[in-house]
Amino acid sequence: MAFLLLLFFLLGPSTVSSRSIDNIILPLHHPQLVYSPPSLSFTVDDIIQSDEYRVKNLISRIQYSGEVEQKKMSEGSFVKIPLDSGLSLGVGNFVTKIQLGTPAKEYIMVVDTGSTLTWLQCQPCLVSCYDQEGPLFNPNSSTTYSTVACSSSDCSGLVKATLNKPGCTKDGDVCIYVASYGDSSFSVGYLVKDRLSFGKSTKLPDFTYGCGQNNVGLFGKAGGLIGLSKNNMSMLGQLSTKVGKAFTYCLPTFKSTSSGYLSIGSSKSTQSFSYTPLIQNSLDSSLYYVNLTDITVGSDSISVPASAYAAASTIIDSGTVITRLPTSVYVALSKAVSKSLSKHTKAPPYSILDTCFKGTYRSLSDPKIGLVFADGAKLKLAPINMFYDIDYKGITCLAFAGDSGDVAIIGNVQQLTFSFSYDVANSRLGFAPGGCT
Ligand SMILES: *[C@@H]1O[C@H](CO)[C@@H](O)[C@H](O)[C@H]1NC(C)=O
Ligand SMILES: *[C@@H]1O[C@H](CO)[C@@H](O)[C@H](O)[C@H]1NC(C)=O
Ligand SMILES: *[C@@H]1O[C@H](CO)[C@@H](O)[C@H](O)[C@H]1NC(C)=O
Repeated sequence: MAFLLLLFFLLGPSTVSSRSIDNIILPLHHPQLVYSPPSLSFTVDDIIQSDEYRVKNLISRIQYSGEVEQKKMSEGSFVKIPLDSGLSLGVGNFVTKIQLGTPAKEYIMVVDTGSTLTWLQCQPCLVSCYDQEGPLFNPNSSTTYSTVACSSSDCSGLVKATLNKPGCTKDGDVCIYVASYGDSSFSVGYLVKDRLSFGKSTKLPDFTYGCGQNNVGLFGKAGGLIGLSKNNMSMLGQLSTKVGKAFTYCLPTFKSTSSGYLSIGSSKSTQSFSYTPLIQNSLDSSLYYVNLTDITVGSDSISVPASAYAAASTIIDSGTVITRLPTSVYVALSKAVSKSLSKHTKAPPYSILDTCFKGTYRSLSDPKIGLVFADGAKLKLAPINMFYDIDYKGITCLAFAGDSGDVAIIGNVQQLTFSFSYDVANSRLGFAPGGCT
């Protein structure tokens, strides 16, 4: 049954529309839907804990970027990165599939706007591979596979792409990447090139990615990860010369049957988007920054001075679950929501979520939260974008948290079912409701 369900998702929508030759359209799934049976899915505790690791990692990248982490790498061997908690970045992310090699084979991949390097688990798994859905990539069975030399610009580009210094095999021939995600998860392996295709049309004959020989983390049982950051080594960066530097996605909810999508290339959507500028920020320039300028509850602003918003760099991220706000902004939002929902029964805090009520998000009256961005673009949240159900406790909590220092993050609960258009070429982010239908 589980297998059939998985097949259904993989064979589901066709991956390329024959009419839009220059846009790549992929189905996007919630990991909890793809990886049935539910025993394989993550608990809400795992998700929230993993989210904290991801946020810490993003904060440290923004606060300390410039200082590239230098990991000791003995020649020809793979670095060992300490394992502490068994939680990983894959948990909050959405997944899709790509085709690699000749003949092309399909792999399920986590999609991540917060990282650059695309990698997948690769035979012979010299050190370690985790359990994945579907077969491992085998370089020997692709006639178009090649390795990248240590002296190449792609290899030196890894410093910015992974924030880790690359290594080199003993014979000096093959570049070694280190992709680490701040928690216990990482992938280390060879930097390689192969043909990347979507459906029948080849898109890139020499796509650069990582052939992972030491891979640790849950990664949702996906074969690897697609990096969609602004850095030119990301899949977006590499495809941009063919399709334009832009992508659009709709993240589906895991409680509904509507499926999401990822479209790489300039948006062909007929939806009318509200746009806000994508802000340049020299602190980790691979991330997507926006200016959050106000929050409304009902028809009123929560009345926090502009300086409180401006004190934080705000990023929009596909893999962070819960939105993080500057503490004073969060406190004002929590107060306004509690006031608006004063008829409902309050519940004790759950982990980092401290504005909780008995029931589910559907049982609450709608406080009508709006996030206002620079140029006045307003994201009008639906109930599913405001609250996070903690089913096993019979409560639902405001899906926002404070206390993330001088970084704010627009998380994926707030993005569910909207189309988000990252028009990187024109430095603007657009959003429109009803994206997954
Ligand atoms: C690939 O082929 C080489 C040479 O025949 C062999 O040594 C190696 O074990 C093969 N690797 C895999 C993963 O099959
Ligand atoms: C990526 O950007 C770097 C620095 O801006 C540049 O040196 C490199 O050639 C670029 N790579 C590609 C593939 O465009
Ligand atoms: C974004 O916010 C920063 C800090 O307040 C400000 O300097 C910048 O002008 C803003 N950009 C836009 C496009 O609003």
